[in-house]
Amino acid sequence: MSNHSILIADDEIQNREYLSEILSDEGYTVASASNGREAIAKLSQDPFQVVLTDLQMPELDGLGVIQYLVENKLNCIGIIYTGYGSVKTAVDAMRLGAFDYITKPFKADEIKVVVKKALDHLALQEENTYLKQQLKAKYKFENIVGTSEKMQKVFRLIDKVAGTDSTVLIFGESGTGKELVARALHYNSLRAANPFVPVNCGAIPEELLESELFGHEKGAFTGAFRTRIGRFELASGGSIFLDEISEMSPNLQVKLLRVIQEREFERVGGVKSIRADVRIIAATNRVLEEEVSEGRFREDLYYRLNVIPLHLPPLRERVEDIPLLIKHFLGKYPKNKSSKGMEFSKKALSSLMQYRWPGNVRELENLVERMVVLSDSPMIDAGDLPDRVMAGAAAGSQLVPQIDLPETGIDLSTAVNDFEKNIIILALNKSNWVKNRAAKLLHVNRTTLVEKIKKQKLQKPSEFNVS
Ligand SMILES: Nc1ncnc2c1ncn2[C@@H]1O[C@H](COP(=O)(O)OP(=O)(O)OP(=O)(O)O)[C@@H](O)[C@H]1O
Ligand SMILES: [Mg+2]
Repeated sequence: MSNHSILIADDEIQNREYLSEILSDEGYTVASASNGREAIAKLSQDPFQVVLTDLQMPELDGLGVIQYLVENKLNCIGIIYTGYGSVKTAVDAMRLGAFDYITKPFKADEIKVVVKKALDHLALQEENTYLKQQLKAKYKFENIVGTSEKMQKVFRLIDKVAGTDSTVLIFGESGTGKELVARALHYNSLRAANPFVPVNCGAIPEELLESELFGHEKGAFTGAFRTRIGRFELASGGSIFLDEISEMSPNLQVKLLRVIQEREFERVGGVKSIRADVRIIAATNRVLEEEVSEGRFREDLYYRLNVIPLHLPPLRERVEDIPLLIKHFLGKYPKNKSSKGMEFSKKALSSLMQYRWPGNVRELENLVERMVVLSDSPMIDAGDLPDRVMAGAAAGSQLVPQIDLPETGIDLSTAVNDFEKNIIILALNKSNWVKNRAAKLLHVNRTTLVEKIKKQKLQKPSEFNVS
């Protein structure tokens, strides 16, 4: 007796009965569904090892069933059969991820062989489950590196909200780890066993994004040859990650607002409401408040998304994490011949900590990978770093006073005070003594700056006087 379960999806009862009999005789447990939608419902409830599906069915066709298997990464093999025997459709099915196809009328032997082949293939796949689990482990907290206070704050927040269903809005410059954090939120939630579905709202053309998110019915528009499930449906029970949310068109913003409020949506061209059992995680590298005040992003949607704001600090504000991140990335390429014993010299590290990192952690990761590949020696020195990093670091280091500590020591508060004064003078000179602009450069408000100017008794030099 085999312990394998097989699902048959076909709208014709004779076919279901015929296939059931053949496969039950082989010792398989067989269940059946009379259309694609019902098949998906069964697949989402019970584990099946193989699904044998007819191509043409009402509601949702066989390609839709295969698409569901593939996109949800179900541990189930899809085999499609068609009465039309058209090579084109068979190729489509295989391209989509079907394991094999059969043409009608059925030959009992052929069915037995194909199902057996599919099960052998599945056994092989299962050997790889271990690797898949390793992939999941990638998104555990310990793989988000950071001991800085700013990152510790982020970890505490992730810890608090991961287990809830609250919508999280992640803010952060490019490369700060927004997607990494979104995945950690998902894989540390009760939804972890269900899909994490990312959508880059900035990368998909506006006219396609709606059907990408909500799916479409067959014939909804020119080219909609078959019903397609959208990402919200695919994420059912799991989380959807709406990346670059600020790029969403006003029209779609309205639709998204409705999904959040009513927890349901329709496919493009469809009338039936579909429940959205999805946790929403969104991310942006823009200042969304600005997008709202300039009318590009709906205020009501902003508030709906911004339930739990999570700010990822740029790398330059947590340079103390750099050594640890480097160690982490060196460990990420264990297969590389030399990465194991590789090290960055003190000088190199100090340059890396003075550089501004416009591309943040991604830029650092790329740099480490590049060094590993290019360096001939296990010790990477400042001179080995890319020119742009060295030039950037040199510019940055001018800000830090190069003082030699005298034997007698110095007075810390006087030194700090002098440093502050010099920085303020730098900002004022750079902004032609326009205090508003200087305040912006220093990330303080104007009143604070005016107070400091008074305290430091600074005066506008004559060359800045507008005559
Ligand atoms: N704290 C961290 N610890 C370890 N790796 C990190 C950390 N932050 C980011 N990374 C790595 O840096 C790279 C960029 O991260 P991610 O894609 O999450 O950034 P992002 O903010 O989504 O960027 P973008 O805005 O460009 O999409 C990834 O390879 C990620 O694994
Ligand atoms: Mg990203």
